[in-house]
Amino acid sequence: MESKFQLDLLRRLRRLRTGNCTRALVRETSLSVNDLIAPLFVVEGEGPPQPVEAMPGVFRYSITDLLKECESIAGLGIPAVLLFPCLESSVKSPSGIEALNENTLVLKAIRAIKEAVPELTLIADIALDPYTTHGHDGVLNHAGTDVDNDATVATLGQMALLSAEAGVDWVAPSDMMDGRVGYIRSVLDKHRLFETSVLAYSAKFASPLYGPFRTAVGSEVEKGIYLDKRTYQLEPGNRRQALKEALLDEEEGADVLMVKPAGGYLDIIRELRNATHLPIAAYQVSGEYAQIHAAAKMGWMDLDRCRDESLLSIKRAGADMILTYFAKVVAQSLKVQ
Ligand code: PBG
Repeated sequence: MESKFQLDLLRRLRRLRTGNCTRALVRETSLSVNDLIAPLFVVEGEGPPQPVEAMPGVFRYSITDLLKECESIAGLGIPAVLLFPCLESSVKSPSGIEALNENTLVLKAIRAIKEAVPELTLIADIALDPYTTHGHDGVLNHAGTDVDNDATVATLGQMALLSAEAGVDWVAPSDMMDGRVGYIRSVLDKHRLFETSVLAYSAKFASPLYGPFRTAVGSEVEKGIYLDKRTYQLEPGNRRQALKEALLDEEEGADVLMVKPAGGYLDIIRELRNATHLPIAAYQVSGEYAQIHAAAKMGWMDLDRCRDESLLSIKRAGADMILTYFAKVVAQSLKVQ
């Protein structure tokens, strides 16, 4: 029996939630395949794809399999991929000099992808951590106590140049050194690579959520201790510094600004959205992906719905594009909807 009690209410917001069609009409944010960037790991040799522990569904691919993966990604309508090399420890060194080898793994992968799937926007991560024995994003100072900012920037400029010459569309410095965006831009321009864009990891926080990624590229520990990158990555509590970093990158010539991780930093994405007219990218990092998978595996949360909500929230916060390990499965699910 219906209750006779009636509120004298002019505004009943539930009216616009009555059915699927009405809800669709008033939906403010939705995810599109055009928002997605798929990070990919590449390894040397011709072996089968190697699963990454703690990242179900993520693999390290040989260049041959990487090309197949890129074709399938492009076929789904995903506009871009971001490449990370996973190197054998024999080519790593304290200086990470392998990064400047003209035939290093990532450059071979870039050339192959650009030939096989030229329309795909190809992004190379620019940082030294896959190449250094200590796993830091740069070269260390003489005392070996910290990353040397300016020496690292000089190397990053060369790395960016090699990637751009190999055909990459965007270079993405992920190191958090001061002045690297401006320097990279100047090196690219000096070589008339005006069309290569810079996607700056601008507000990158020192986060334990990079754990699964570091296992994937083998940079997780230094002498058995978890790597501490707090002398260059941002403190998780620092909002003003994050904005300052991003606005400086804009001044230095960045084309796109990135916030990373994404889910815990939605406030930063929103503030940045309000502070700039540049496109904003957000990186849903390995640990965010792993958390959702782990809870789903325990039977505690629904994988697909948590995945979709996590990405929608990042979009709603103001991101124009999202780097996510879910890119392919989300594109597949958007296709059947
Ligand atoms: C390092 C780099 C990291 C990630 C992307 N580039 C890890 C780190 O800063 O230690 C993390 C990505 C992820 O966790 O998915 N230059």
